[in-house]
Amino acid sequence: MEVTQVSINVTDRAGVDHVIKAQVGVPLMQALRNEGLVDAICGGECACATCHVHIQGGGMEKVGKPSGQEVDMLETSLETQDNSRLSCQVIVSEDLDGLVLTVAQAEG
Ligand code: FES
Repeated sequence: MEVTQVSINVTDRAGVDHVIKAQVGVPLMQALRNEGLVDAICGGECACATCHVHIQGGGMEKVGKPSGQEVDMLETSLETQDNSRLSCQVIVSEDLDGLVLTVAQAEG
């Protein structure tokens, strides 16, 4: 049977752990926003960085590095690390099942 949902382990800004379901084929941000874990103010346009997450463990190998406009956006954030991604720019795939991430602290 085709997998349509994966589990993502999320530590929120308060340090509380959650296991959430994310739909394959849609931006990771949507699953996080559905749970109220990110604000995603720009709605996924890569223009706000309020969906910023830090990918933990070996997850960056699966998620991949940011590119182009996402890198530019991340450069404006004080919270940016080597494992930073904007979750609206990550499309959920079956490979991401069990991914571990931390929501970056809000700025400003
Ligand atoms: S939702 Fe704004 S950059 Fe991702």
